[in-house]
Amino acid sequence: MKTLNTKKEVSALADSWHAEGLRIAIVPTMGFLHEGHLSLIRKARAKADRIIVSIFVNPTQFAPNEDFAAYPRNEKADLALCEAEGADLVFLPTPDEMYAPDASVGFTETKLSKVMCGKSRPTHFQGVLLVVNKLFNITRADIGVFGMKDAQQLAVIRRMVRDLDMALEIVPAPIVREPDGLAMSSRNVYLSPAERRNALCLRRALDLAEAAWRSGDTSTAPLLDAMRGLIEKTPGAGIDYITAVDADTLEEVEVLRRNTLVALAVKFGKTRLIDNTLLK
Ligand code: PAJ
Repeated sequence: MKTLNTKKEVSALADSWHAEGLRIAIVPTMGFLHEGHLSLIRKARAKADRIIVSIFVNPTQFAPNEDFAAYPRNEKADLALCEAEGADLVFLPTPDEMYAPDASVGFTETKLSKVMCGKSRPTHFQGVLLVVNKLFNITRADIGVFGMKDAQQLAVIRRMVRDLDMALEIVPAPIVREPDGLAMSSRNVYLSPAERRNALCLRRALDLAEAAWRSGDTSTAPLLDAMRGLIEKTPGAGIDYITAVDADTLEEVEVLRRNTLVALAVKFGKTRLIDNTLLK
């Protein structure tokens, strides 16, 4: 496995792979890798000949009051995990390598990034789209693999690829959970033991959605009320949003149907957790 720090070297290697007719997948990450990330690498391996993992805590997707500086990092462990999963290249740029000091072109997304997480993180998805687009360009990727844990991110990236006629294929990967049901996240390390236990209310609330869907109970309002009630009685849990939307348009739905995304964001202290379920 190779590790590279410069865009130029990554692009040169990717061009040489393309010259050999190989298909390239990119798995963008911010590091502190866990099983969720590793599942994306496995998915990429099944789809492409060469796998590039990027590890970059992207400053442009954090607001000034957010956890950019505190975001957990462990490069050594991450590289060992990437190697064990058979990644071909890990790209580890610095912020200065990624962004020219006088960079002046960015992204405006006017719809999907304005709802759900976009309400409390108004600049977040602009930063995500900017860095993901740059990573696609640098790595010459044919395939981009993204987790459904960040369902809004996936929808926004798919919209970018559609609206800008980008040639690559976006491949989604299912949410990987801890044995007790908590969705894996690099930010779970911020939780105190009590918060970690209480955080299981997210999964329990989503269980209500799946149970309603299975039993043919498709009215959204009573379901969201029940989910809100369950979370409100959990100590320390502060609801940011609970919603049921179409997974592609992120428009709210009054009646549950196939491809409805039931999603929520809940704060425990300073830690904001997101989770969701896609009704099939
Ligand atoms: P990060 O939070 O590190 O996540 C990287 C990728 O791993 C994303 O596609 C995310 O959806 C996926 N992922 C995280 N936890 C997962 C889980 N429990 N199950 C399945 N997939 C999971 O998302 C980002 O980084 C950044 O916004 C990024 C796309 C890298 C742009 O900076």
